[in-house]
Amino acid sequence: MTKFGVYIHWPFCKSKCPYCDFFSQVRNDVDQDSIVDSYLEDIAFYAQKTGHREVTSIFFGGGTPSLLSPQNIERIISAIDNNWTLSTNAEISLEANPNTQTPSLFTDLHHAGINRLSLGVQSLNDEELKFLGRTHNSTQALNALEDIVKTFDNHSADLIYTLPQQSDKIWQQTLQQILTFNLKHLSLYQLTIEEGTFFAKKGIRAMDDEASTEMYISTTELLEKNGYLHYEVSNYAQPNFECHHNLLYWQGQDYVGIGQGAHGRLHINNHFFATTHPRNLEELSSQERAEELLLMGLRLCNGINKNDFKQICGLHFDDFINKTHIKELEEAELIANTPKNLRITPAGFLVMNKIIEELI
Ligand SMILES: C[S@@+](CC[C@H](N)C(=O)[O-])C[C@H]1O[C@@H](n2cnc3c(N)ncnc32)[C@H](O)[C@@H]1O
Ligand code: SF4
Repeated sequence: MTKFGVYIHWPFCKSKCPYCDFFSQVRNDVDQDSIVDSYLEDIAFYAQKTGHREVTSIFFGGGTPSLLSPQNIERIISAIDNNWTLSTNAEISLEANPNTQTPSLFTDLHHAGINRLSLGVQSLNDEELKFLGRTHNSTQALNALEDIVKTFDNHSADLIYTLPQQSDKIWQQTLQQILTFNLKHLSLYQLTIEEGTFFAKKGIRAMDDEASTEMYISTTELLEKNGYLHYEVSNYAQPNFECHHNLLYWQGQDYVGIGQGAHGRLHINNHFFATTHPRNLEELSSQERAEELLLMGLRLCNGINKNDFKQICGLHFDDFINKTHIKELEEAELIANTPKNLRITPAGFLVMNKIIEELI
């Protein structure tokens, strides 16, 4: 079955975290209902462009979409179902921040149609949470984790590590604690200092490469020992619990992006479009599409399927790629190249950005 997803961006947060460069605003005067009205119009607009499709995943991301009322979430899900068709086993994820928790939040979200909850835990150490400018503490995060495993069958948590001077001991404690919840999925991000953020302005530096590499290796080993598959650079899942929506991005499938800061990718009548808010469609060339597929696909541990690549962008993978560099990278065991597939090896992941530069 062809996969097709809808991403809903809710660009508002209770406060701005000093490391975050995602599109988000801190506002108290949000007229939620009328913004959602405009989202419903956007959904109808894109449905007219794509024609009928079966929606296999919806992802409410942000910002902080757990600030959206369950009624508005329900309105959005119904509109998606009415304008396209929602697959009976569609994955419907929402990112929640522990600072938005109310006693009935998760049950209400579940009733509204959410079947996968991803919690922004970031750390289970109060000092680290403070450093990260989070407005929740470890107790709130642990309570929220307990609630999500009670309420949902499919769940995930985001953690950030390789903080400056982070001790491996504290990181291991956080990991051991998170493992006790037996979450189906974990996203473990190394802190990046993004231009324009408060951290960048303050001159905060990421951990040095050698130390962060060691942490990355030991983290992956621990997760694999505990039954998680490392399927994308920063993502780990119990078997069959990969995030199907995010796989759409990494595998170059179609998705619609709704809301300020959201973008989409759509095949319409053999033309390929990048979409941006509000309702802009810009055609991409095969070369542009191929570069994007390479950039996204190499993040996956299984890498790029060359047949799918040809089907999606129309170019032969082996013609598109830099052949001299491919040989060198193969000899250095940084990539594995077969007639069907190209992937980055575990050692290669540590220098992924360099590899991608050389391959294009
Ligand atoms: C779009 S954010 C939204 C999550 C939600 N608003 C929250 O804060 O809990 C998704 C995830 O990206 C990660 N993230 C954001 N900025 C990052 C950075 N500079 N370095 C590493 N991870 C980052 C965090 O783990 C965060 O949970
Ligand atoms: S990390 Fe989450 S809560 Fe913090 S500013 Fe970014 S989107 Fe908002």
